[in-house]
Amino acid sequence: MDIDIVSVFPEYFDVLNLSLFGKAIDRGLVTVHTHNLRQWTHDVHQSVDDTPVGGGAGMVMKPEVWAECIDELLGFGGAVDGSAPDADTADANGTADANGTADANGTADAPVLIFPNPSAPVFTQQDATELSRARHLVFGCGRYEGYDARIPVYYRERGVDVREYSIGDYVLNGGEVAVSVMLEAITRLLPGFMGNAASIVEESYTGANALLEHNQYTKPATWRGIGVPPVLISGDHGKVDRFRRDEALEKTSRIRPDLIERLDCATLSKADRKT
Ligand code: ADE
Repeated sequence: MDIDIVSVFPEYFDVLNLSLFGKAIDRGLVTVHTHNLRQWTHDVHQSVDDTPVGGGAGMVMKPEVWAECIDELLGFGGAVDGSAPDADTADANGTADANGTADANGTADAPVLIFPNPSAPVFTQQDATELSRARHLVFGCGRYEGYDARIPVYYRERGVDVREYSIGDYVLNGGEVAVSVMLEAITRLLPGFMGNAASIVEESYTGANALLEHNQYTKPATWRGIGVPPVLISGDHGKVDRFRRDEALEKTSRIRPDLIERLDCATLSKADRKT
């Protein structure tokens, strides 16, 4: 997977060289290119923002600067004047093949352009799964009061798969942390990224009946007077599975009733319904 990240603080992403992500880079599973948005400015102050049209507090990121950057990263030839993408990404009608069609490996070739935005739909595990099948992701980190709303419109109209996501109902100072969150959720799903693929399959928010995960315990069986649930050391795998499933259902109903409401009822067994 090729990842481009554009930010006015590209140093934020130096941490990607650590841990499992760093290993994935070393092994060639992902390539990451960070870019400073200011490199696409032409004025002496390298300004990327301007005052909001219609008034109001703060500054808004300028469409011209973002567009020069995105045109280059998406391979749009001479699109500054609104012309079509170049032959690499365009079909006969000048439309980029951005419909997300996947090849035999489930990999979608068209690049996906992603902007974190506190006013957008919330990023979910389902989005992470879908985006983990893309070959090329381009993340644009907004700052200040955000970016000019015409940017996503312009690229969508040219057939680009543009996504805007919030990572939760709170406001951050910029998109960098949100991009880090999305990036981690997406890339850990890449085949070979995690040491143990089973750990992904069993997690919260995954699968047909996305529940919060049951509690986990390790040794010792009793720690500071608190024992692990006895069934977990009974050696009866059927009972362990039932206990964990019941715990996941109970925990989800208590902490995230919204997830229970969204459950596909057909995935619930008779025993599940008793919980
Ligand atoms: N930028 C600022 N706050 C954000 C949020 N909650 N999600 C995504 N991008 C953001």
